[in-house]
Amino acid sequence: MQQNGMISIPDFEPGSQRIVTTGCGRLLVCRTDDAAFALDNDCPHAGQSLFGGVVTNDRIRCPFHGAVFDLRTGQSIGSRLNPLRLYPTQIRDGEIKIILNTAELKDKS
Ligand code: FES
Repeated sequence: MQQNGMISIPDFEPGSQRIVTTGCGRLLVCRTDDAAFALDNDCPHAGQSLFGGVVTNDRIRCPFHGAVFDLRTGQSIGSRLNPLRLYPTQIRDGEIKIILNTAELKDKS
């Protein structure tokens, strides 16, 4: 459900990922043991989907050419690629709440 710059999805199993379509585009949500990370699904290198990228130690490795990004900061590790755009999340009451940028929602409408 999306409203007021926030979207909620049912929580899911740690170690897995979901693609979520929002007013900000398609986001990748990665669930780890203690957090959920929401980010733009397009890799800054060549725009391929990050879905299926291996997540370890709060880092994701792009499944296409192997770029690595820190899921807590969005910064690339070991390269000079642009950072990932991250969206704040909260895990509460069996849901993952993702805070979207309302200014972007207006830009894309
Ligand atoms: S598209 Fe992700 S590293 Fe090339």
